[in-house]
Amino acid sequence: EGESLVLGIETSCDETAASVVARGPDGVGRILSDVVLSQIAEHSAYGGVVPEIAARAHVEALDGLIKAALAEAGTRLDVVDAVAATAGPGLIGGLLVGLMTGKAIARAAGKPLYAINHLEGHALTARLTDRLAFPYLMLLVSGGHTQLVLVKGVGDYERWGTTIDDALGEAFDKTAKLLGLPYPGGPAVESAARHGDPDRFSFPRPLVGEARLDFSFSGLKTAVRQAAQAIAPVSDQDVADICASFQKAITRTLKDRIGRGLGRYRQLAADLPEAALVVAGGVAANSAIRQMLQALCAEHGVRFVAPPIKLCTDNAAMIAWAGAERLALDLAADPLSVS
Ligand code: KG4
Ligand code: ZN
Repeated sequence: EGESLVLGIETSCDETAASVVARGPDGVGRILSDVVLSQIAEHSAYGGVVPEIAARAHVEALDGLIKAALAEAGTRLDVVDAVAATAGPGLIGGLLVGLMTGKAIARAAGKPLYAINHLEGHALTARLTDRLAFPYLMLLVSGGHTQLVLVKGVGDYERWGTTIDDALGEAFDKTAKLLGLPYPGGPAVESAARHGDPDRFSFPRPLVGEARLDFSFSGLKTAVRQAAQAIAPVSDQDVADICASFQKAITRTLKDRIGRGLGRYRQLAADLPEAALVVAGGVAANSAIRQMLQALCAEHGVRFVAPPIKLCTDNAAMIAWAGAERLALDLAADPLSVS
């Protein structure tokens, strides 16, 4: 009935994922299955993702996950219209596993393969969950990326800002490690911050007030290290206070940067009835950051869209959906065209 089915594969970091999504001729999307296997347990002893361990874990898990995704969706490989796999950016070992697996099964089943840019997957997810119209602004804040992007169309992106050093999630992870909190650091820092005094330490707010829309977080991490060293040995309360002060500095910095971006977006799209800011990436789970963004969007008269956390973090539904959007537009399915 004109609905297309796409199998998606995601293996760019430490999550192995497979999913089947459907896209109707009216552009409405449905997730038929969305299977994610996190490798957090494999990497936590090292305080971060180990690329070689990740690649091997993808090899072991991927075939089974693809079978599970197809079964859960009640479909078969010969019924889907296309296969989509993440081609980059990410850890090269994992990318090879996912892309080559995708290529092999697409070739065997005689289906087109869409090689998807991971960031495009994050950027288009909001159209799967919320049917957003272009152009919207997207803030991607994960362990690997910090980007403010104007999403003008499928394959048509304008990057307005990025980090000049650490990614935002990386800043959370490194701060946690420094304070002896578990990996991944974001949730640990957020929960410690709940019992802390956000005004005890005054951490830097890099680039605040500057006209360009970039971010910088490495100075903040250094300031945290120095504060911890100055008061060593740190008590649980000290850790809580540092986390609360760190989160406050982050929130204030983001507020300045994103506020500026929303101003620019508003100028460009003053009469846009559906102006929206979308968040993606694991850091979007942080409730202090979410609340700040919500208030900031209200101030600027822009709709705030936060897809469910499961779709904000790495998953294969977003890759399948990006493939479905490309398929609907008859865009090239050439893996070599993706950088
Ligand atoms: O998108 P994601 O699952 O994976 C990629 O990095 O691609 O994001 C993971 C990142 C980690 O750095 C993690 O510490 C951070 O998201 N994170 C958080 C929170 N939950 C996860 N950061 C701040 N607050 C949180 N509640
Ligand atoms: Zn991601």
